[in-house]
Amino acid sequence: MNILDFKKKKEAAEKICMITCYDYTSARILSNTLIDCILVGDSLAMTMYGFQNTLSATLTMMQLHTGAVSRGAPNKFIITDLPFLSFRKSLSKTVSAAETLIRNGAQALKIEGAAGNLKIIRHLVESGVPMMGHLGFTMQYMHTLGNTIVQGKTEAHAKRLQEEALLLQDAGCFAVVLECMPTQLAKTISENLIIPTIGIGAGPHTDGQVLVFQDVLGLNIDFKPKFVKNFTDGYAQHKQSLDAFAHAIKLGVFPQDENCYQSS
Ligand code: KIV
Repeated sequence: MNILDFKKKKEAAEKICMITCYDYTSARILSNTLIDCILVGDSLAMTMYGFQNTLSATLTMMQLHTGAVSRGAPNKFIITDLPFLSFRKSLSKTVSAAETLIRNGAQALKIEGAAGNLKIIRHLVESGVPMMGHLGFTMQYMHTLGNTIVQGKTEAHAKRLQEEALLLQDAGCFAVVLECMPTQLAKTISENLIIPTIGIGAGPHTDGQVLVFQDVLGLNIDFKPKFVKNFTDGYAQHKQSLDAFAHAIKLGVFPQDENCYQSS
C-alpha cells in the first residue's frame, strides 16, 4: 500500500485495515499479514512503557520505535504519531521532529486535533510529509477534554467535528482517524470527505478501522473499553507457554539433546 491507495480504497469501498505496532518482532509478524498499514502510535507510552497516558511519549521514543517497526515491516506503509507538544513549539522544531521520524522510516505522520494545526499540516504536506489527521477523543488533549471519552455527542460539538474534518482535508491530510464518537457522526463525516476515515470506537461506517496491537491479540487484561475486540486470548496463551517453559526447567526436561551442542 502506498499513499495513493488510501483514496483509491475509499473510492472502491474497500476497507482500510490499520493496527498499531511498536517493535521489530511484532512488525515481522505484521509484515506477513493482510494488515494494510501500521501506526507507530504514541500509545506506546502506555503499551511499551507502562505510563498512564500518551503524554509521556517523547520524540526519542517515537524515533526508536519507528526505526524498529520499519526494519521489521519494510513492506508496510508506516505512519508515526507526532508526540505531545512536539508540533507546537515552533514551525522549525516541528519540521525537525518530522524530519527525524521520516528519516527513521515513517512514510507519513499523524497529528492530533485541528485547531491551531492547519498551518503546520499544510507546511509539512508541501514539504513532502504526508499527514494523517486525528479527531474525536485525542488523548494529547486529555486535560482540556476532562473526563469525557466519547466526543461529539451534542449537536454543536458534532458540527464542530464535521467542520474540523473538512479543514483537515483542505489542509492536505490524506486520511483522518476518528476516535470515540457516535456511529452516526462518524458516518456523516466519512460521507462528507473525499479522503478516507479510519475509526476506533467510531462504529462500522468509517472507511477503515484501527486498533492497538495488544488489544487485538488480547494481551492487555487491564484495559477493555467497549470498542476493543480481542481476536484471541493472547494473555492466557502467553502465560500458558511461559509456565510450560518454567515447568520444563524445574522438571529437568528442558533442554533435551536436540537443544544441546556436542564436542566433535
Ligand atoms: O496512538 C494510538 O494508538 C492512536 C490510535 C488510538 C489511533 O493514535
